[in-house]
Amino acid sequence: MSKGIEIYLDKKRTIVDKALEKFMPQPSGLASEMITSMNYSLFAGGKRLRPILCIAGAEAVGGCADNVLPVACALELIHTYSLIHDDLPAMDNDDFRRGKPTNHKVFGEAVAILAGDGLLTLAFNLMARHGTEGGSREGVLMRVIDLISHAAGYKGMVGGQTADIAYEGKEPDPAVVHYIHRHKTGALIAASVTSGAILAGCNEEQERSINRYGQQVGLAFQIADDVLNIEGDSSVMGKDIGSDKARGKMTYPSVFGITDSKRAQEELVDSAIDSLTGFDKKADPLRNIARYIIERKA
Ligand code: IPE
Ligand code: IPE
Ligand code: MG
Ligand code: MG
Repeated sequence: MSKGIEIYLDKKRTIVDKALEKFMPQPSGLASEMITSMNYSLFAGGKRLRPILCIAGAEAVGGCADNVLPVACALELIHTYSLIHDDLPAMDNDDFRRGKPTNHKVFGEAVAILAGDGLLTLAFNLMARHGTEGGSREGVLMRVIDLISHAAGYKGMVGGQTADIAYEGKEPDPAVVHYIHRHKTGALIAASVTSGAILAGCNEEQERSINRYGQQVGLAFQIADDVLNIEGDSSVMGKDIGSDKARGKMTYPSVFGITDSKRAQEELVDSAIDSLTGFDKKADPLRNIARYIIERKA
């Protein structure tokens, strides 16, 4: 991986983490355990890829991080809620996440469920209250909230997670795994980069191209997650490996084999970069992030 993209990701991660600290509440009152639990998972680590994509999407059309930070942080809150719920015994039943015991292992299932609910709802509160602070008009913000709620909800991530669970142990099916991956992971990733571009004032053609890029890297990201669950190093990733096979998950490797899965992620990244043909060098971070998504070790 090139040094340049590592420096870029580090810089943006620091900006996102500072903003998250500003927006998150401190534990207090009768619900303080749940607030502690929200902060536990949010600040346990994490690549901050969705907020960084939101920022890079804005930069690609001439904007900057300051235009999008509340929405970028909201995306990380939604993602973190999805991880807490994904790890629950009723779902993937995982013990480690972001290098630490999973939320329910520390706080119990009830508080973990509520911390997820708290993060999800806080995300929308954050966008409603602070979303125009970067200079976007209310109408533009409403479009972004519409896009993100669609991507996170029953037609997006929640739908994908439902199919992921329903198809555990079922016969490999290319159409099903494609649906699962596009929805459980691809949808929020595509919404992240597209919302950044919209907030920064992109035109319709730019929005279509950036959205196509997001769909392609989003699917590639989940294929890479599947491959890392087989070939990765759990101490680097901060979560257990081998769990997909143990639970009979429908993954790209289980349906297409590892070689074709790796080929598919390469092709998706090439197409994602092709989607950005009409953009100048301000879109280079997006191009480099696409490569990083399949070369990453964590
Ligand atoms: C893990 O996402 C869950 C998937 C959607 C595959 P990330 O790999 O982005 O997790 P963090 O945020 O870095 O912990
Ligand atoms: C996670 O998918 C997708 C969401 C949380 C929406 P996985 O279950 O495959 O991801 P990991 O491997 O647990 O991070
Ligand atoms: Mg899962
Ligand atoms: Mg999981």
